[in-house]
Amino acid sequence: MAPAPTNLSWHHGFVERKERQGLLNQKGCVVWITGLSGSGKSTVACAIDHALARMGKLCYVLDGDNVRHGLCNDLGFSVEDREENIRRVGEVAKLFADAGLVTLVSCISPYKRNREFVRGLLDKGEFVEVYMKVPISICEKRDCKGLYKLARAGKIKGFTGIDDPYEVSDRPEVTLEATNAAGELITPDCMAETVIDYLLGRGLLN
Ligand code: PPS
Repeated sequence: MAPAPTNLSWHHGFVERKERQGLLNQKGCVVWITGLSGSGKSTVACAIDHALARMGKLCYVLDGDNVRHGLCNDLGFSVEDREENIRRVGEVAKLFADAGLVTLVSCISPYKRNREFVRGLLDKGEFVEVYMKVPISICEKRDCKGLYKLARAGKIKGFTGIDDPYEVSDRPEVTLEATNAAGELITPDCMAETVIDYLLGRGLLN
């Protein structure tokens, strides 16, 4: 990577963040949804987006698969590339939050230090980590994209949860379990509600 540029300064505009928040009647924040492939990150992000839009709140989803089609299409799945992927997505998420959007990120983001890096980019309370606590057995059974099968067959190397690590955070703001006490699967809409309740409780939606 090229060395960090020097001789730069921040250019301030005339419209303050507070004014943008007033125009939208919401506070910008980053809801960072992390977990294994197939744990339902994208589905929950879209369910939150949909529910908040119905409430008149503006969101945007930065989805791992999607950003890898453009912004991050030069990156693979080595440790270095995943770190750079999360750094870029984190920086974009920070800008979107500054613009006033509820920014929903759905990326595996397997390494704790990278998630903590993004947390450090945001003001206190504006980074909400949502951990999809879904056992790999469930993710693998779903295998929506057939990637677990390929990974088990050794055709994909370095697949998260198989031969690459996923590091659980000590204290994510929200943990979404796959099943309830009766062992029934919790629906994406129900999970979205849990996250929205958290955001409402923290005053992030008004
Ligand atoms: S990361 O680790 O945060 O940089 O990954 P992310 O940008 O979220 O991309 C994850 C999607 O890429 C597909 N894929 C893989 N995932 C994990 N490990 C390996 N080796 C891999 N190769 C491809 C997979 O479809 C992931 O999408 P999701 O939605 O998580 O299933």
